Amino acid sequence: MTRTRLAVVFGGRSTEHAISCVSAGSILAAVDRDRYDVVAVGITPEGRWVLAPDDPSLLTRSGRELPGVKDGQAVALPGDPTAGGLVPLEDGAALNRDTALLGAVDVVFPVLHGPYGEDGTLQGLLELADVPYVGSGVLASAAAMDKSVARVLLAAAGIPVTAAVTVRAARWASDPAGVTEQVRALGLPVFVKPARGGSSIGISRVTDLADLPAAVADALRCDPKVLVEAAVVGREVECGILEDATGQPQASVPAEVRLVGDHDFYDFEAKYLDDATELDCPADLSADVTARLQEMARQAYAALDCEGLARVDFFVGPDGGLTVNEVNTMPGFTPSSMFPRMWAASGVDYPALVDRLVQAALRRGTGLR
Ligand SMILES: Nc1ncnc2c1ncn2[C@@H]1O[C@H](COP(=O)(O)OP(=O)(O)O)[C@@H](O)[C@H]1O
Ligand SMILES: [Mg+2]
Repeated sequence: MTRTRLAVVFGGRSTEHAISCVSAGSILAAVDRDRYDVVAVGITPEGRWVLAPDDPSLLTRSGRELPGVKDGQAVALPGDPTAGGLVPLEDGAALNRDTALLGAVDVVFPVLHGPYGEDGTLQGLLELADVPYVGSGVLASAAAMDKSVARVLLAAAGIPVTAAVTVRAARWASDPAGVTEQVRALGLPVFVKPARGGSSIGISRVTDLADLPAAVADALRCDPKVLVEAAVVGREVECGILEDATGQPQASVPAEVRLVGDHDFYDFEAKYLDDATELDCPADLSADVTARLQEMARQAYAALDCEGLARVDFFVGPDGGLTVNEVNTMPGFTPSSMFPRMWAASGVDYPALVDRLVQAALRRGTGLR
């Protein structure tokens, strides 16, 4: 039996570089080596592609230290399907190791979060190169990444989203008073966030309009497009979507994230460093709310044209009303991340999850579909 060559691509240029590395480490550890030949490809924060050590232990969090991709043997995946897959960037003489790892790959697991990875850019390269890959294609990746675009598509599909104002850097520079009036109309508090961010980086909760300029400036440091959203009161509940063997999206049991300690919201520290969250999986919800939430998660997945997997994040109001907060096309993927835990609780363990995603990618292939 010939093994499938699987390239796990991770790291990348976004602020979620380290989180991607942790996710990739878990995937490398879980891949069935009897069935897959694995090539670990790291993308440095500068965007350089390198052959990375296929060693999960180098990609774990230790205390408050998060891992990163170190420079190494540079490779490229040309967008030319006849180029033969992964090629060295240095000439042959400069190659000192790992040449066996180069060449055609059958499938890529792009375990990247944020811009230049989860946003359709890498997916576009893989389409050009004609290499199948795990997860959503170009359109869904780009649409889900951009919270100001995703909310329009979700709302058009009848899915409740919160009221928001999109603020571009140029508008903020020229008309801060006009923006402030629009924000006032939303009602306080508001959440100010980069339109294409993740891991809560650059997000602030604003309770006083006097704090709006600093919050917008913070978000603008991550992204020239910023979203100001009315705050939703509700529990934070997430639902995983995974394609089954026939390509049908299935919903996991939902899980609730609860903050413990003194975080105002689910910020970066709470997510990754402070052990400040507790996860109820499955979430303690009535059968009715659970069923409505799972159905709405499937609708959101379809509304954005997602493929393979997604994690749909909700607010569940005190009356059981649902609001979709965001759709993540490449959710965090460590065994303790929400998505794998929700699937484990739904009967799909971590190695099986990785395998199902890769098999779905191979089944789907590339091209218009
Ligand atoms: N409109 C909102 N109402 C209430 N809480 C919010 C709102 N937007 C964001 N938050 C809080 O901020 C967190 C991060 O925001 P989110 O939009 O999910 O960004 P990210 O993509 O970085 O995860 C959410 O999990 C939630 O705790
Ligand atoms: Mg989120």
